[in-house]
Amino acid sequence: MPQTYLITGANRGIGQAMAHQLLDAGHTVIAACRREPSDLIARGATFVPCDVTKQQDVDALADALQPGEVDVAILNAGILRADSLQSLDFDAMREQFEVNALGPLRVAAAIAPKLEEGALIALTSSRMGSIEDNTSGGYYGYRTSKTALNSIAMSLSRDLAEDGIGVLVLHPGFVQTDMTGGRGEVDATTSARGMLARIEEGQRPGPARFRHANGRELPW
Ligand SMILES: NC(=O)c1ccc[n+]([C@@H]2O[C@H](COP(=O)([O-])OP(=O)(O)OC[C@H]3O[C@@H](n4cnc5c(N)ncnc54)[C@H](OP(=O)(O)O)[C@@H]3O)[C@@H](O)[C@H]2O)c1
Repeated sequence: MPQTYLITGANRGIGQAMAHQLLDAGHTVIAACRREPSDLIARGATFVPCDVTKQQDVDALADALQPGEVDVAILNAGILRADSLQSLDFDAMREQFEVNALGPLRVAAAIAPKLEEGALIALTSSRMGSIEDNTSGGYYGYRTSKTALNSIAMSLSRDLAEDGIGVLVLHPGFVQTDMTGGRGEVDATTSARGMLARIEEGQRPGPARFRHANGRELPW
C-alpha cells in the first residue's frame, strides 16, 4: 500500500537513494532538506526547506504536515568531522551534536504530534555510535554524537510507545557517499535498499532496536 515517507537530508547520499527507491515503488516522499532536490521534485516529491539545526525550519516543517499524513519519518541528515585524540576540535564536536543528535530529536519532537498509531520513526545512526562495537577509538565527535542519538532514540521509543509509534535505529553500512569521500563497502543504492527493507519489516511500539541495513542486530 502506498505510504508517505518524510526524509531529512534527502538531497544527496543515502537519503536521496532511499527517496528515489520509494518513488519507484509508488510511495509519496516529503523531502526535508537544506537544498532543493530538483531530481526528486521532478518525480513528484514535495520539498520542504529544512536545516535540522534550525528550530524555525523544523517548526515550519511540522506545521506543513497534516495529522496522520506521515507514515514513516526517516531522520537521516548527518555530518562527519574526522578527529583524533591528537586533533580534537571541540567546535566540530558541538556541530556534530547539533546535526546528528539534537537535529533528529528536534524533528522527532516537532512532528510527533502529527504522527498517528502505527507510524514509524527510523533514525539513521551508525555503528560508530555503539560503545560495545568501538574497537578502534578516535572519531570523538562523530561517535559521541551518534551514541547520543542512540540514547535519544531509546527515550523516544519509550515516550512514543503509548501513542503506538515505533522507533528503529539503523546503521546503513560503510557506504560510498560524500561523507566517506566515496570510500565504502557498498554504494548508496544497495544501502538504501537494505535500510528500506528493515523499515518495511517494521518496528512495534516499545524499546527501540538497533539494526544494520543488512538485517543484523547491533549492540548498543
Ligand atoms: N556513508 C556512510 O558510510 C555512513 C555510515 C554510517 C552512518 N551514516 C549516516 O547516514 C546518514 C546519511 O549519510 P550519507 O553518507 O548519505 O552522507 P552525505 O552524502 O554527506 O549526505 C548527508 C545529508 O545530510 C544533509 N545534512 C547535513 N547537515 C544538515 C542539516 N543541518 N540540516 C539538514 N540536512 C543536513 C546533507 O544536506 P546538504 O547537501 O545540505 O549538506 C545531505 O543531504 C548520516 O546520518 C550519516 O551519519 C553514513
